[in-house]
Amino acid sequence: MPITIAIDGFSSCGKSTLAKDLAASMGYVYVDSGAMYRAVTLHFLRMDIDINNIDRVNEALADLRLDFRNEGTHQRVLLNGQIVEKELRSMAVNKLVSPVATLSNVRAELVRQQQHIGRDGGIVMDGRDIGTVVFPNAELKLFVTAETQERVRRRVEELKSLGTPTPSKEVEVNLTERDRIDSTREDSPLRKAEGVVVIDNTNLSREEQADMCLALAKLRA
Ligand code: CDP
Repeated sequence: MPITIAIDGFSSCGKSTLAKDLAASMGYVYVDSGAMYRAVTLHFLRMDIDINNIDRVNEALADLRLDFRNEGTHQRVLLNGQIVEKELRSMAVNKLVSPVATLSNVRAELVRQQQHIGRDGGIVMDGRDIGTVVFPNAELKLFVTAETQERVRRRVEELKSLGTPTPSKEVEVNLTERDRIDSTREDSPLRKAEGVVVIDNTNLSREEQADMCLALAKLRA
């Protein structure tokens, strides 16, 4: 029976790398729920939505269509039919995404879509509320963490590779602030789900992390 693997954790601690590796080894679908929150944020930025104006937020949500396209191990998120990957990782989106993710109307719509995508199992999804809210019955729940300096180093590299080098202080402030908002919001805060396995990957290579978690997944499948 294909199982459900839920991965949660702080910003930029390698959840998506682990999720992709697990999905590839298990032959499962990988879904990046953070990309969905990022796409909604980009949509709001493009429509110049004041996120405190709930009517405008609801109008914008009614106008939103998200699709996923899998290309090998690579997963693209389409916003209203358009590929927007690079913009999803921009600092403008990094700065607004956590405030957007506090909005219950946004969360309700995305959780509904995520549960629909994962209804038959055989899925690895990463985010902040996957083991607690989206798939509380997932057979394997992982909580990934790493030391802040290592997370900042990884995100600085990502922004550089996108052609938008950003000072590490600015990146650190953004990561710390996002973790604070994500952990303290009222609706679905980032928490360790019941039965979760905690992985600190500061000193683990990508392969070591993937092998450990794959062994766990095989035991639960
Ligand atoms: O890549 P990074 O770990 O920095 O973040 P992400 O997974 O792309 O998620 C971006 C933001 O979306 C998070 O900081 C949360 O505010 C929000 N998010 C959420 O609230 N719930 C999820 N399931 C996934 C993301």
